[in-house]
Amino acid sequence: MSKVLVTGGAGYIGSHTVVELLNRGDEVVIIDNFSNSNKDVLDSIRKITGKDFKFYEIDYLDKDKVEKVFEENEIDSVINFAGFKAVGESVEKPLEYYHNNIGGAVILLEVMKKYNVKKFVFSSSATVYGDPEIIPITEECKIGGTTNPYGTTKLFIEQILQDLYVSDNTWDICILRYFNPVGAHESGLIGEDPKGKPNNLMPYITKVAAGILPELSVFGNDYDTKDGTGVRDYIHVVDLAKGHLLALDKLDKENKGIFIYNLGTGNGYSVLEMIEAFKKVNNVDVPYKIVERRPGDIATCYSDPSKAEKELGFKTTKTLEDMCRDGWNYQKNKM
Ligand code: WQD
Repeated sequence: MSKVLVTGGAGYIGSHTVVELLNRGDEVVIIDNFSNSNKDVLDSIRKITGKDFKFYEIDYLDKDKVEKVFEENEIDSVINFAGFKAVGESVEKPLEYYHNNIGGAVILLEVMKKYNVKKFVFSSSATVYGDPEIIPITEECKIGGTTNPYGTTKLFIEQILQDLYVSDNTWDICILRYFNPVGAHESGLIGEDPKGKPNNLMPYITKVAAGILPELSVFGNDYDTKDGTGVRDYIHVVDLAKGHLLALDKLDKENKGIFIYNLGTGNGYSVLEMIEAFKKVNNVDVPYKIVERRPGDIATCYSDPSKAEKELGFKTTKTLEDMCRDGWNYQKNKM
């Protein structure tokens, strides 16, 4: 049984990963400052798993407090979810994004080095591929050309990790490039609950279906795709969470190294397909209107997940129907 520090563990993907870690018997320490999450998630995790964990309400930019976590706990490995993640907001507030996401990651890595904790899983994103040259996207595809500061912070942190490993090859690092995480735990107790108006498609659809928002704006239907709307690789957040446990296993088993994996399903669905699937699965209406493209959006992005399958044994099991049903179940539970 290992003791895993999960930064941002009260967040969307973090909380689902903590549930899987606790379910398999790992000990967990969470740090979170609730900048994009809610305190009640902690009790939901305890309710789902019947297990407890240590929690520190701290900002990972506060180095002294991060050190205290390492002083008080024998940490074996770290999964770093903490970070601001709203694409649009990052365009308006680049300095906050660079300061928080990159500054926080560097502080975390410095403290890990000081305490000789060198197993690190990083929450990266398919956005580091920019506008991909080749579809489906493999890990060998060129990275760069990110179209927003949020994506650029992911790109820069990946570079920092590469440079760190070159300087000291006793590090064990796994970079996980998520495609589009959606859905919620089947209990309906945890899910995606962004503060304010959702930036992402699925939470927006869910709030329109719930009548909280009047209608969905579909950002453009003139892309070179099957129906003109954007195509993405939506992956169920529970499948994604399980991918993190496989990444930790790899760092425990193999000798030192830095490994990069796409975590996606390998399937691409358009915005209109997502709307229709959500309506059909949940028997709800989702009024929408076609509007102009959102700046920075790309037409198509979906993964070739074969490397994660081959080297981690990663395999998504949840269907598009599961994603739609679980996401709606969580929304209904909140109402
Ligand atoms: C998906 C599709 C939009 C909202 C970003 C980040 C990625 C990850 C997920 C953070 C696109 C369309 C969306 C809406 C719409 N990171 N859309 N109306 O932009 O693929 O990825 O979020 O969690 O790193 O890059 O996700 O859900 O915003 O958009 O038509 O109200 O839905 O144009 O085609 P995206 P998204």
